[in-house]
Order: sequence, then C-alpha cells, then structure tokens
Amino acid sequence: MNTAGEVIKCKAAVIWEPKKPFSIVEIEVAPPKAHEVRIKILASGICRSDDHVLSGEIKVTFPVILGHEAVGVVESVGEGVTRVKPGDKVIPLFIPQCEECRPCIHPRGNLCKFNGLGTFAGLMPDGTSRFSCKGELVHNFISTSTFTEYTVVHESSVAKIDAAAPPEKVCLIGCGFSTGYGAVINSAKVEPGSTCAIFGLGGVGLSAVMGCKAAGASRIIGVNRSKEKFPKAKELGATECVSPLDFEKPINEVLFDMTDGAGVDYSFEAIGHTDTMAAALASCNRNYGVSVMVGFAPALSEIAFSPALLFTGRTWKGSLFGGWKSKDAVPKLVSEFMQKKFTLDPLITHTMPFEKINEGFELLRAGKSIRSVLIF
Ligand code: APR
Ligand code: ZN
Repeated sequence: MNTAGEVIKCKAAVIWEPKKPFSIVEIEVAPPKAHEVRIKILASGICRSDDHVLSGEIKVTFPVILGHEAVGVVESVGEGVTRVKPGDKVIPLFIPQCEECRPCIHPRGNLCKFNGLGTFAGLMPDGTSRFSCKGELVHNFISTSTFTEYTVVHESSVAKIDAAAPPEKVCLIGCGFSTGYGAVINSAKVEPGSTCAIFGLGGVGLSAVMGCKAAGASRIIGVNRSKEKFPKAKELGATECVSPLDFEKPINEVLFDMTDGAGVDYSFEAIGHTDTMAAALASCNRNYGVSVMVGFAPALSEIAFSPALLFTGRTWKGSLFGGWKSKDAVPKLVSEFMQKKFTLDPLITHTMPFEKINEGFELLRAGKSIRSVLIF
C-alpha cells in the first residue's frame, strides 16, 4: 500500500509525564515536509539516555516519543530530499550533520548547530511536530524518536546504510556502540601500548573497551561497582577488572598502585556520575594523562575539583557520539561491522517485541541488561 503523502496511523510508546511508564497508543504521523524523511522503524535499542528523561535528569517537553538508537526503512520523502529514497535502509541520527555550520565544517567538530541537545525542544527545525495523538501535539526527542512504528526526521538527521545490515544489531551504531568506541578512537586517540581505565561497564563502557583493544592498548582496566559485568568486559578485551567496593582507599589511588604510581594514560567515564568523573580524572597520569567524559551527568550538576589536578598537564575533555561526524561515520561503521571488524552481539543481551518496552526499561534499571533491542 502506498502511504506517501497520507497521514499514517500507527502505534507509538508515548510518555505523558516524567516517572510514568510508556503507554502504547495510536498516533498520527503527518507526511514529511520539504527536506524531511518518514521512516518505518524496524528495530530500536533501549539506551540509558532515554531513561534519563523518565527519571527527570534530562528535561524535555511532554508528551514525547523517546528512542534514538534505531534502524528503519524510508517510507517516503518530502520535496528536495536527494540523499535517501523510499526503500532505503537508514539509521536516524541524534546529532544531525548539516554539512554547512562551523562544527560540521571544522575537521574536529561533530556537534552540528541544528542539534536538539541544548534545548530538548522536541520539534522539527520549522518549529512544528509531525506527531499527534487525538489532536494533541506530541514532541520528538533529539531529532529522532524511534519508539514508534513511524517517525519523521530532517534529512540532515538520517544516514543510508548497507541494505544487508541486520537491523536488530546495527541499531547500536546509532548511539551506544559509536559513543563508547569513538570516545577512544576519535576523542582520546589512544595509541598502541597505552594503559587505559574504563569507568562503567554498561553498553557504552564495553564499547570503549572494544575501542581500546582495537587501538592496541596493552592494559585495559575495567572499573565497575558490580562484578557481574567483568566476564563480558574480559571477553571484549579488558585485561583486568576492579570494583571500587573491594577497596578502602579511593579508586584513583588503587589505579595509581596498579600502575606503579604512574596513573593510567587514558581514562574514560561511562557512568554519568560527577564523583566518578572526578575519580577518572584523578586516575590518569598527572602530566600527560587524558580523561574523557562520556557519561551524561544529571542536568544542573556541578563538579568541584582542585586546579592542581589539571595544572600539572592533565587533559580533561568530553565526547559526544564518540566524536564522529554522524552522517559520514554511521554508514562506514555499518560497513566495518559487515566486514567483521568488530562485533555487537556481546552487547545485545535481550531482544523483545516493541510492545514489551516497559519490560526492557525494567531490565535496564535492574542492571540485568546491557542492551535490549525492541523489534517492530
Ligand atoms: N562506580 C563504578 N561503577 C558504577 C558506579 C560507580 N559509582 N555506578 C554505576 N556503575 C556501573 C553500573 O554497575 C553499570 O554497569 O556503571 C555501569 C553503567 O552502565 P549503564 O547504566 O548500562 O549505562 P550505559 O548505557 O553504558 O551508559 C553510560 O553513558 O551515554 C551515557 O547516558 C549514558 O550516562 C550514561 C552513560
Ligand atoms: Zn551542522
């Protein structure tokens, strides 16, 4: 059935207010306007950042459709769209790439000025929404919204990928995998022989472990409170794993002891807590150490730290979507996956039908899953 130009009625998981479960309801998805693309979602991963909205740590306007780590197929395109066509397999991009703004043009930039991360306004670039439910406007989430059978994104927020790529796996390239892996490869540029520490061994931290291994790091130390994640971290390349709960002294001192007083060359924080961000900084060498913040800290949180920590030469930096320019990198990462340059299977612990979305979030909160993927 050709639905191009029509309003599509479909199922979506809508959040009406914070701290409430998802309700699966029928919504109306308007056709794409000029330079927009309507996508039928095939698979969507559940990410910690979606849960940050539910917990209130990310403030958005409700009602909203969350989800930002997905694969879909283009259903129809608006006027002027040239890069994708109906039938193309695509990954929606939560950081757009307009290719014209300063961060897009800058060789080291990836935070396109059209990103929705600062305001979380939840609207298309023209200030309207393509989603409604019983006449009420429903907002989108960071230019994507993938917990719905159909979504509409701007053409700068979508990348065409290999038609043969398995949706239930490569959806992780839309967020979690690329974030952790790229933090190591692009943001830190870890060299062969380095010693690295990864704080947090969830989907993002484990992807950073994979990045460290790919970069040729000789010591990869996983730091996680619970030991349940240690076997998987070792399978993916961690050479040692430690739990802060096993030591009386602060974990940064433990890491100094483990490295003969040198500290690690690179540390990565993939938890999103200010205390572990500070500990990760203090764990790296006081002169040439580099610490990369990958986790998302609660809105309005602040860190107090001694300037002496940086005065001696340390570098402290952040990394968003692994520093990748989204539209350029995503198709390449999918190709690398297809060429078996890295694996995603160990990150996917659960798959379930879209309707079971609340169960997927319960698994995440209970620490029982790494990634759950919803199948549509
Ligand atoms: N010390 C050590 N480990 C901790 C601590 C702590 N204080 N607190 C939590 N952890 C561990 C948890 O046990 C878990 O294994 O950190 C891990 C975090 O993993 P997930 O919750 O699965 O999160 P993930 O999806 O990997 O995302 C991590 O990156 O993109 C951001 O928003 C995301 O802030 C989040 C972070
Ligand atoms: Zn841009």
